[in-house]
Amino acid sequence: MKPMNLLTLLSFLSLCVSLLPSFAVSAILFQGFNWDSSNKGGWYNSLKNSIPDLANAGITHVWLPPASQSAAPQGYLPGRLYDLDASKYGSKDELKSLIAAFHEKGIKVVADTVINHRSAEKQDGRGIWCIFEGGTPDGRLDWGPSFICKDDTAYSDGTGNLDSGGDFSGAPDIDHLNPQVQKELSEWMNWLKTEIGFDGWRFDFVRGYAANITKIYMEQTKPEFAVGENWDSLSYGNYSKPNPNQDAHRGALADWIQAAGGAVTAFDFTTKGILQAAVEGELWRLKDSNGKPPGLIGIKPENSVTFIDNHDTWSQKTWPFPSDKVMLGYVYILTHPGTPTIFYDHFFEWGLKDELSKWIAIRSRNGINTKSTVNILASEADLYMARIDDKIIMKIGPKLDLGNLVPSNFQVVASGKDYAAWEKK
Ligand SMILES: *[C@@H]1O[C@H](CO)[C@@H](O)[C@H](O)[C@H]1NC(C)=O
Ligand SMILES: *[C@@H]1O[C@H](CO)[C@@H](O)[C@H](O)[C@H]1NC(C)=O
Repeated sequence: MKPMNLLTLLSFLSLCVSLLPSFAVSAILFQGFNWDSSNKGGWYNSLKNSIPDLANAGITHVWLPPASQSAAPQGYLPGRLYDLDASKYGSKDELKSLIAAFHEKGIKVVADTVINHRSAEKQDGRGIWCIFEGGTPDGRLDWGPSFICKDDTAYSDGTGNLDSGGDFSGAPDIDHLNPQVQKELSEWMNWLKTEIGFDGWRFDFVRGYAANITKIYMEQTKPEFAVGENWDSLSYGNYSKPNPNQDAHRGALADWIQAAGGAVTAFDFTTKGILQAAVEGELWRLKDSNGKPPGLIGIKPENSVTFIDNHDTWSQKTWPFPSDKVMLGYVYILTHPGTPTIFYDHFFEWGLKDELSKWIAIRSRNGINTKSTVNILASEADLYMARIDDKIIMKIGPKLDLGNLVPSNFQVVASGKDYAAWEKK
């Protein structure tokens, strides 16, 4: 082929790629469990029966609970990382079959990757829990105290580097500055991809190690999608009218994303915190001093994963959204930029499947995506209204008199108690 033709072909190909719908356009993450799921028996198999409903609703990604053997049934104190047969959620074969069934419907599967800390398998001669086993005959991830941070002596008598992040009190903190740790954990994650079928990661407790460590795991495992749990509480005391400034809170999330390499996304804890206060008659909170959404979606929407509740905040009531206002929360996140998450309980246990599916469809048919433009029309105590991408108008809040905020070329396409959306005719 002549160089000229090759160039033409290349630019044609890149044009084709740029026309493909990108991940940004329509991703919806479904959280496929709650804190109680490990007690249900056969969770993987029962979730398999839900796949048709999830596919019909337009779910693109599902987040599964931590799959490895763990000292706690929910999976968040993992020990033998390669042992996927000791999980309370089901066996390795059941997991592989579940993932394959999701893939058949075009749904990607995200592993809950708990790597900040690790439970020891055995005590040494001194009675200290510092012998770690990976769960394979060839000794992969068989570790001793040198792999544990030396400031985490309580459990494991660690002799590694000082912890590069916050302490996790429930188990020994792994020394992620150790290159062998980085290599062996990356190999394990790549095994989760190639052997088990996972497509991406939900990084548990990323506050437990430096952001540049997440960057290393991102580069060495190249997930199709990844989201970090960087959970810091909001200071509600500094959170008062007329300027609800949460810039420091969302700024910390944005800084973490950048230091972690920019490809990873983060759960938008800022939006969650502000939204659940706002729906209690304080909807003025939903506009920042620049006239934008006040959460991470207002500054870094393409890296923001929005949510209402999860296995911690709702199941364990650590920071629950007001239960009678959950649909107001969903109307907001499903019409706004970022990547919205749907929680298992809301979809399957609260009877919201049809209502949530309707709002996912509104998002998708109007091409609302991670970077959609938000034009805030009203942000009063009892009314928040916004026009998104000039495609739809949405409102939440009890106020009925909307003045002339809805132009005559828009018509109502969905509504419920204290919420509605309009599309262009
Ligand atoms: C990552 O950050 C930590 C401290 O925050 C530092 O000690 C370490 O050298 C950094 N590692 C790399 C690979 O940049
Ligand atoms: C407000 O923010 C400042 C600075 O971040 C902090 O020192 C102070 O404790 C906060 N006040 C309240 C009441 O939370």
